[in-house]
This record gives sequence, structure tokens and C-alpha cells, in this order.
Amino acid sequence: MTRRAIYPGTFDPITMGHLDIIERCSRLFDEVIVAILVNMEKEPMFSVEERVKMIQETVTWRNVTVGTFEGLLVHYAVEQEAQAIVRGIRAVSDYEYELQMALMNRKLEPELETVFLMAGDGYSYISSRLIKEVFKLGGSINGLVPENVEQRMREKADDAEA
Ligand code: PNS
Repeated sequence: MTRRAIYPGTFDPITMGHLDIIERCSRLFDEVIVAILVNMEKEPMFSVEERVKMIQETVTWRNVTVGTFEGLLVHYAVEQEAQAIVRGIRAVSDYEYELQMALMNRKLEPELETVFLMAGDGYSYISSRLIKEVFKLGGSINGLVPENVEQRMREKADDAEA
């Protein structure tokens, strides 16, 4: 049986913390699908297409692919014949929300397991939200996101100024 995991998220943009989790996940499962939520309500920095491209450019592990989904995560996971959802935990503060989601997903789809992976300690403070805030206010995000992401963020800022 192929052990397949879904690693879902907003990934606006992908960070080094996300990549760390993807790498760990790729060692544990035969196949990993990084799944970007298409959320019409939020105003993202990057379109879904841009996010897919940036992740594809960054992810080098052979067993990792990138997908998108709308609606319930558990429906997508069943459709993809995945056995597990993977979520990264950075600090205790993440746990309450993650536990709530994991238990709701289990209620909806009892066969599907949620697996929590801890990011490396160097990444525990990184979030897409903070990356965007620091970048917008002129701080350095070097080493916190992949180089192609930093480049795209600079291009976006330049386009906005032009
Ligand atoms: O990167 P994020 O924003 O923390 O990811 C959150 C995500 C996409 C995993 C979560 O919002 C989600 O699964 N949304 C899909 C809708 C859904 O299934 N909701 C019920 C969750 S219990």
C-alpha cells in the first residue's frame, strides 16, 4: 500500500519552516501532496498559481507534489486516497487550534489520521504572516524564506511602487 500524506495550508508564502516539515514528511511517507487551500475570502499576497509555482520551484524531493483544494480538507484527502494529514507544530500556542482541527477532521473522517511534526528549533518563530509584516516594514527576511520567494516578494513590492 502506498502511504500518502497531505500537507495542507495557505502557504502565502511558503517559508523555511514549511520546507523543513515537507522534508521530514517526505522521509516518513511514500508520497506527499502539499495542498494549497483556495480561499476566496482571504486577500493573499500571492495568487494560488504563484504559490503553486514557488513551491514547485523549491521542493526537490521526488515524492512530493503540489496540489490545490477547495472546500473541506477531509474530502480532498479522501479523493487523493491519503491516509494522513500532516501539520507542523511550532510552539505550544499552535497546539490548541491544531488539536481542534484534528479532532474535527477525525469526527468527519475517522479513518484519516492527523500527524503532527515539529519543525526544527531554528524555525519555531517563523510564520507567513510575520514574514509579510517584516518584509513590508523593511526588515530582512533573508534565510527565513527560500530565495525564489524573497525574489518574488521584492518584485511584487517593486511592481506596487511603479
Ligand atoms: O496554513 P493554514 O492557514 O494554517 O492552513 C489551514 C488549513 C488550510 C489547513 C485549514 O484552514 C483547512 O483545512 N481548511 C479547509 C476547510 C476545512 O476543512 N475546514 C475544517 C477544518 S477542521
